Amino acid sequence: MNEYKLLLLPGDGIGPEVLDATMRVVGWYGHKGLPYQTEEALLGGAAIDATGRPDPDETFVKAIAADAVLMGSVGGPKWDGLPFAQRAERGLLRVRKDMGVYANLRPALCFDALKDASTLKPEIVAGLDILIVRELMGGVYFGEPKETTTLPDGQKRAVDSGVYTTSEIVRVCRVAFDMARLRGNKVHSAEKSNVMVTGVLWKEVITDLHKREYSDVELHHILADNAAMQLVRNPKQFDVLVTDNLFGDVLSDEAAQLTGSIGMLPSASLGDRKPNGLPSALYEPIHGSAPDIAGQGLANPIASILSFAMCLRYSFGLKDEAVRLEKAVDSVLAQGFRTGDIMQPGMTKVGTTAMTDAILKALDASA
Ligand code: IPM
Ligand code: MG
Repeated sequence: MNEYKLLLLPGDGIGPEVLDATMRVVGWYGHKGLPYQTEEALLGGAAIDATGRPDPDETFVKAIAADAVLMGSVGGPKWDGLPFAQRAERGLLRVRKDMGVYANLRPALCFDALKDASTLKPEIVAGLDILIVRELMGGVYFGEPKETTTLPDGQKRAVDSGVYTTSEIVRVCRVAFDMARLRGNKVHSAEKSNVMVTGVLWKEVITDLHKREYSDVELHHILADNAAMQLVRNPKQFDVLVTDNLFGDVLSDEAAQLTGSIGMLPSASLGDRKPNGLPSALYEPIHGSAPDIAGQGLANPIASILSFAMCLRYSFGLKDEAVRLEKAVDSVLAQGFRTGDIMQPGMTKVGTTAMTDAILKALDASA
C-alpha cells in the first residue's frame, strides 16, 4: 500500500504545540500499521517571518499534492498591524481556496464529562451532537469587489461582496444532505433570505436539490439570526446545520461554546475526490492561535487530535479507528484530565503533553 502523504502546517501561536501533540497520536497509528510520510510547510505569521509573505507558493504546491493537510493555527498580534493583504489569515484563506475545500465540517459534540463545563445549563448541552457544514470558498470572504476607496469628500468607503452561484450552493448542500443521511437525517439550512439575495438563491437552490435528490431527508429553513438564538435556546433540535461562509464562521464559534470550550472542536474541510479517490482535505482545529498561552505547554490539544480523527474517517476511510480515537478522548475526560480551558473543581489540571500522554495511554488500553 502506498504511504499517505501528510502535509503539516503548524502555523503560529499554539498551532505548533497542538500539532506536535497530534503527531504523537499519528505516530501511534503509524506503529499500528498506518502507512504515512510527512512534510512540513510554512503558513501565516511563520511564513511572513521566514519569507515576507503569509502564503508562499511552495506551501500551496505541497498542499495540493498532499493526501491530507493537518494545520495548527495562524495569526497573532505580531502580524496584526500588517496591511490587509499581507495578514497571516490571508494564507489560510488561500490554502482553502487553492485546495478547493468548499465544505467545512464542524461537529459540536458535548462529551458527557464536560456537560458542566459549558456556560449553558447541563441539561441543554448533555448529549449534544450537531454538525455544522459551513461553505468555505465563497460568500463575503472571497467575493469581488473587496476594496477600500477614498471618496471625493475624503472619507473612506469599504466594500465586501457576498457572492454565491448555484453550483457553489449545490455542492456544499449535497455534502450536508449526505452527512445527514449518516446521522439524524435532518438538515437546517440557515440564510437571510429576508434581506439578502444570496439568501434567496441559497434557499431556492437547496429546496430544489432536496426535492430532486434528497426528499428522504428532513429539511428546515431557518433565518441565520434565529439559528443563532435557537443554538443557545435548544441546540439539540439541530442535527446538520448548513450555512454560508460568514454565518458558518459565527455560528460555529457559538456552537463551540456549547461543548465547553472552543479548544474541543475539530474541523475537516473537504473538496471533491481526486483521481486517487481521496478527497482534497484540510484538517484544522477551530480554535485560533491563542497567543496569550502560546509556548507554555498549556494548550488543549484535543481539537487538533480530534481533527486527526476526522482525517481517519474522511480521508482514510478508517471509521473504526476514528471512533477508537474519539473514545480515547472521551475516556481521558471521564478520568478527570483537564487542560486550563476546561478545568473544573476536583479535576486534574494538565498541560498539552500530559493530556496527550493520557490519550495515548487510553489508545494503548483500547488496542
Ligand atoms: C475560522 C477562523 C478563520 C475564518 C480566520 C482565522 C480567517 O475564524 O476558521 O473559523 O474566519 O474562517
Ligand atoms: Mg472562525
